Amino acid sequence: MHIDILTLFPEMFEGVLNASILKRAQERNAFSYQTTNFREYTLNKHNKVDDYPYGGGAGLVLSPQPIFDAVEAVKGKTDTPPRVVLMCPQGEPYNQRKAEDFSYEEHLIIICGHYEGFDERIRQELVTDEVSIGDYVLTGGELGAMVVVDSVVRLLPGVLGNESSAPRDSFSSGLLEHPHYTRPAEFRGAQVPDVLLSGNHAKIDEWRHYQSLKRTYERRPDLLLNRALSDKEKAWIQA
Ligand code: ADE
Repeated sequence: MHIDILTLFPEMFEGVLNASILKRAQERNAFSYQTTNFREYTLNKHNKVDDYPYGGGAGLVLSPQPIFDAVEAVKGKTDTPPRVVLMCPQGEPYNQRKAEDFSYEEHLIIICGHYEGFDERIRQELVTDEVSIGDYVLTGGELGAMVVVDSVVRLLPGVLGNESSAPRDSFSSGLLEHPHYTRPAEFRGAQVPDVLLSGNHAKIDEWRHYQSLKRTYERRPDLLLNRALSDKEKAWIQA
């Protein structure tokens, strides 16, 4: 997968996208990215990317021309047309399902805004997806873009060492993850549950599933609303 990031602050991405698993993903050729500063696409002599809003009001609005030209310059790198993602607080709330959806694409273009907002024609004519990473307002779309890149790249084939770890994550299964323990079996008086030491894998799987369900019920009951529970699961929850 190739990801183009359009931003006024390309330097923000360097540390985050070139460390840990995202670095390894690039070394394994699972993923590549390029940042483009759309200020370089301005046609005015002061390289202004924004302007006053028609109709008046506070703040500046990102102009369409530099963003259109920058998107057009990075398009056409793959056989399939790219998804063009706009980071903004009005976007669709981002979640694991959306990350999975993006992970099937060959090419993503992510546009990071700043200031008051975007000229509406960017939304109308260029963008295929608008994404918000939560109900709060950031100073720009860069942190959100990093969240999207990280969550998508880890789903790409060959990126995580342990192939089974991605599907078992919190949210992929629709449930939060069960508790994890490692050695020692007792630490400062706190014991690892006996079942995990039993070697009985059927019992361990059942315990983990119950713990996932319990944790989801306690912390994120909203995730259970559209889920059909088996009789056994209902009995667990009511216990
Ligand atoms: N830009 C500013 N706030 C944002 C948010 N919550 N999500 C995505 N992009 C943003």
